[in-house]
Amino acid sequence: MKITVSLIKADVGGWPGHSRVHPKLIEKARESLEEAKNKGIIIDYYVFNAGDDLQLLMTHTKGVDNPEIHGLAWETFKKATEVAKELKLYGAGQDLLSEAFSGNVRGMGPGVAEMEFEERKSEPIIVFAADKTEPGAFNLPMFKIFADPFNTAGLIIDPTMHQGFKFHVMDVYEGKLIELNSPEEMYDILALIGQPGRYVIKYVYSKNPEIGIAAAISTERLNLIAGKYIGKDDPVAIVRAQHGLPALGEVLEPFTFPHMVSGAMRGSHHMPIMPVPLKYSQCTRFDGPPRLVALGFQLANGKLIGPADLFDDPAFDRARKIANEISDYMRRHGPFEPHRLSAEEMEYTTLPMVLKKLKDRWKKIGAEAKKAWAAGELTDTHD
Ligand code: 13P
Ligand code: 13P
Ligand code: MG
Ligand code: MG
Repeated sequence: MKITVSLIKADVGGWPGHSRVHPKLIEKARESLEEAKNKGIIIDYYVFNAGDDLQLLMTHTKGVDNPEIHGLAWETFKKATEVAKELKLYGAGQDLLSEAFSGNVRGMGPGVAEMEFEERKSEPIIVFAADKTEPGAFNLPMFKIFADPFNTAGLIIDPTMHQGFKFHVMDVYEGKLIELNSPEEMYDILALIGQPGRYVIKYVYSKNPEIGIAAAISTERLNLIAGKYIGKDDPVAIVRAQHGLPALGEVLEPFTFPHMVSGAMRGSHHMPIMPVPLKYSQCTRFDGPPRLVALGFQLANGKLIGPADLFDDPAFDRARKIANEISDYMRRHGPFEPHRLSAEEMEYTTLPMVLKKLKDRWKKIGAEAKKAWAAGELTDTHD
């Protein structure tokens, strides 16, 4: 049976500030998806939050980019926005960049991770959702899961995985996609994805056509779509596990390392990503540290058997402790790089407006001043 798993998310209002989703929004979204389930539009659903992002996980048989499913998500976000407005939640409707729905939520603000596959005899899936970071935050862990034999033992010792995986990498600035094979082109893959603000892993495929897709990651970049700072593009991902794919524990292992990501405080700072259970899915300290939740499900003819709150586990205590220590260290840099993002990334924040104010106060000095003097452009110099 071919099943589609769609995880569509948007920030339609934070409570309080940008920290988390108010329970009334979750309730409204559940109501909306329950109605769709009763009408047979979707098979099953699960609503949850990653910080201030409302997450709609849905299963159905309509394939990816389906207008009815995307329309359902859009309408659900609209309904939740109404509640957010009534409660005067922070940034009500923040991620809904457009007024009217045009058949597909891609490019309209919400983030989407979707995949269609033949449901196996047993089908474990893991759903990841992060707040206060960007889609490229999944580059490092996805590489480790599907390409690093020091993480994934199955790449070496399981004959069904030994041939490796195929990575689809997107250039989010130019809207281009490239397919690269691992391990053959591993160094090319790393050359790109080591720059996670630009090159983002969008899909991972098994080289075994019977298995097909292994992972899907949302690659929407709100700021690039809107051309200005709106909020961060808090990403989501879906990973299939076991039996020809990495085991559940191989999928989770990379998150014992709280790697550095961009997106904390005003979308303008680097902080380490912290794996947390749902109850700690809120960004408090310096609107961070960026948080990641992982929910495990077994699929049973499209029904979502779960969730198992996978980071609700002492095995990740140490990662959380390291994330807190690294946060202390990074915070001590205050407004300095590399805590503050690089100049290129800051173009999509509110900083350019500050710099604009100073535009006319710059005076030429040195060789530049001499040139301007000779050209009669200067009446006053500094040296
Ligand atoms: P499966 O072969 O059942 O997927 O499990 C592999 C394993 O041993 C997990 O660690
Ligand atoms: P969100 O993108 O999660 O709304 O966060 C915005 C922000 O600037 C937090 O400091
Ligand atoms: Mg927000
Ligand atoms: Mg958010």
